[in-house]
Amino acid sequence: MQDWEIHSVEPHGEWGTVSLRKVTKRFGQTVAVDTVALEVEAGEFISLLGPSGCGKTTTLRMISGFECPTEGRVYISGQDVTDTPAHRRTVNSILQGYALFGHMTEADNVAFGLRVKRRSKQAIEGKVQEALNLVQLSDFRSRFPGQLSGGQKQRMALARAVVIKPDVLLLDEPLSALDLKLRRAMRFELTRLPNDLGMTFAFVTHDQTEAITMIDRNAVMDEGRIHQLGTPVEVYEHPALHFVAEFIGEVNMLEATVVGGDGDRTEVLLPSGHRLTCAPEGAAGLSPGTQVVIAIRPQRIVLAPEGGIESRDHAVVTGELRELLFLGDSTRGTVRLADGSELVATRYNEAGTHPFGLLRPGDRVDAGWRHGTACLVE
Ligand SMILES: Nc1ncnc2c1ncn2[C@@H]1O[C@H](COP(=O)(O)OP(=O)(O)OP(=O)(O)O)[C@@H](O)[C@H]1O
Ligand SMILES: [Mg+2]
Repeated sequence: MQDWEIHSVEPHGEWGTVSLRKVTKRFGQTVAVDTVALEVEAGEFISLLGPSGCGKTTTLRMISGFECPTEGRVYISGQDVTDTPAHRRTVNSILQGYALFGHMTEADNVAFGLRVKRRSKQAIEGKVQEALNLVQLSDFRSRFPGQLSGGQKQRMALARAVVIKPDVLLLDEPLSALDLKLRRAMRFELTRLPNDLGMTFAFVTHDQTEAITMIDRNAVMDEGRIHQLGTPVEVYEHPALHFVAEFIGEVNMLEATVVGGDGDRTEVLLPSGHRLTCAPEGAAGLSPGTQVVIAIRPQRIVLAPEGGIESRDHAVVTGELRELLFLGDSTRGTVRLADGSELVATRYNEAGTHPFGLLRPGDRVDAGWRHGTACLVE
């Protein structure tokens, strides 16, 4: 597979931008990508995040030109490339199952793209060394792919892709085969890359930590659609959908029914019988009867003896403290409500103090969260 030949263009105003306009891809009956619109700015580091089969790889393959949209248009650096073959696009990809040349050494694999561009031998050597240093593989330069581990192959594919400095680099789970320590080191290096090289990155990951720590914006996908596009903070703090909230980080989900409210506040009823006033952002105007989920991060929940939380500025539910679990750097408290639903609260452990004060399992407790710290999602 020739996934990395490139065609050079002079930098210009829209250099490095990627734009998908109402792009749909069908495979027979399967709608792999469904009317996706996405604008990636030059130099931006964007991730496609979502469960297996949601259309991430297919989206990248349409940007790189290995797949043709059934409908819609693809623009790269301001030009409509929908009908441009992959090898004429200024895009480079490390696709899932990276295509390395088995008969070439590592150094030759990395140099290949530069040779295609007819760079001088000296220039090629310098750049190959730089790329191999970046992925910490300079000691392996004369090995063949068959002699490398999965993680080393992955790093080699990365070196080969960045060495030719494409406008746009597509990475399909580039870190998945690496062990944790290397993954962290590469993550750090990768986040530096867009700034250093001026490249635009689109990155596919299953890994929530990667999505949160490395990325300018996350496009959260499910069933072929982008459900939310936002910075890591936006996606974490204000998930637009049930699915997004659950996918990114740990979260408590309480089912509820809207029973009233006005422009700022929403009144909901929980199956446990609690009636709460929620003032979450973006949830105003839900009509009574709407089924919603209150999503609250465990670190936002405070616990106190029953009656101990001021309900003026908090939403409060009452239940039984079932368990306190010591996790080293934090402690998790689990509270069970009357209907059997559970809420988890976490606290950092500080030396010499008990994170939840005098509370013990079996106690009746209030669990509360400050207005505005939970989200109502439909
Ligand atoms: N060439 C193909 N022919 C038929 N169906 C395909 C083809 N490629 C992908 N699909 C289907 O399209 C949907 C999206 O696939 P895609 O590979 O884009 O998912 P993904 O998000 O990359 O998943 P994963 O995280 O498992 O890599 C899936 O239902 C898949 O089975
Ligand atoms: Mg995939």
